[in-house]
Amino acid sequence: MALPSLARVPAPPDPILGLAERYRADPRPNKVNLTSGVFVDDSGTTPILATVVEAERRLAAAAASKLYRPIDGELAYRELVRALVLGEGHEAVASGRALATQTPGGTGGLRVAADLLRQTGSGSTVWMSEPTWPNHPQLFASAGFKVRSYPYTDPTGRRIDEAAMLDALGQASPGDVVLLHGCCHNPTGVDPSADLWRRIGDVVEERRLLPLVDLAYQGFGDGLAEDAAGLRELVRPGAELLVSTSFSKTFSLYAERVGALIVVARSAEDAEAAQTNVKAAIRTNYSNPPAHGADVVRTILSDPELRARWEQELAAMRNRINANRGDLVEALDARRIPGDWSAIADQRGMFALLGLSKAQVDRLRDEFAVYVVGAGRINVAGFTSSNLSPFADALAKVVAG
Ligand code: LMR
Repeated sequence: MALPSLARVPAPPDPILGLAERYRADPRPNKVNLTSGVFVDDSGTTPILATVVEAERRLAAAAASKLYRPIDGELAYRELVRALVLGEGHEAVASGRALATQTPGGTGGLRVAADLLRQTGSGSTVWMSEPTWPNHPQLFASAGFKVRSYPYTDPTGRRIDEAAMLDALGQASPGDVVLLHGCCHNPTGVDPSADLWRRIGDVVEERRLLPLVDLAYQGFGDGLAEDAAGLRELVRPGAELLVSTSFSKTFSLYAERVGALIVVARSAEDAEAAQTNVKAAIRTNYSNPPAHGADVVRTILSDPELRARWEQELAAMRNRINANRGDLVEALDARRIPGDWSAIADQRGMFALLGLSKAQVDRLRDEFAVYVVGAGRINVAGFTSSNLSPFADALAKVVAG
């Protein structure tokens, strides 16, 4: 029997993971991978954190069963993650109006959020920054959302165009969803100031919008509490909010697919009702979550000594990324590549956006085996002492034309 014709029309490769596949298939030995947001050490490998190894040792010694987990995950994990994101003593935590759900990574959290909103009739239009992570528009469109965008950076790409952003959000209709990056904006690395977060909170309140915060890099910017300060500003008394968080990067648990969706409702009663809908959305998708990654995160976060060691490992990853930023600016300046690159050193998180043309990006890849995403998004966490110079040399040639 013939397949339906649509099944024979190939889908385009994913702009990030499809490119990473292409990189892997490239036989050139000198290739440079700056595609997906993955942390590497100076040898170019992504190590398993020592605290993860220790947690896995403890879990293996205690393993007794592979029973299904609750649809929304184990309570201990859910409570630890909620406190990590919102802060231990937060009113929304103490009152019970914030509830967390284990999800398969941050993408899983976003998809559960999208399904929850569509299935409960709580939102049908989502506003996202231009530019944003390329999976955002495709994920929300496939969940049935109308996708709109708000301007983010000014033409230099180095600063947020605050007036344009707030003006666009001011045009959103009550009930529209506003997708915000909690920290370490992907792809620009440019984050709102505390003052801008306050003003975003004001627009959200005035226009009665629903913020959905994508928090995939908590701790990679300035610190665990610092990176959550913006979204906490939005959790005003009685305000509703959703947060999708991920432990792929911060626990280096990429392949374990572990994250969470936090729903902050108006009251504890509303939160309990929302939770029944979260569970219904999950049940018809992947039924219930995988256990291992969440068990690792729970083991680390619940043990004060392991947790302190993890925070040190997290700080070491953050410091290395920030040092890479300084080294990159130096390398670009040393080659006198036209442009003011200094802002890269002040940006945060894994990414910087170089603002290259398609022809330049193609040339980097085809001629120099340097892989960058879209309009020149680079994974700053992917630089090592062996690939930084070849990258800067290639960029200098491509920019010179
Ligand atoms: C990225 O933006 O590179 C990461 O979030 C990985 C991914 O899934 O795209």
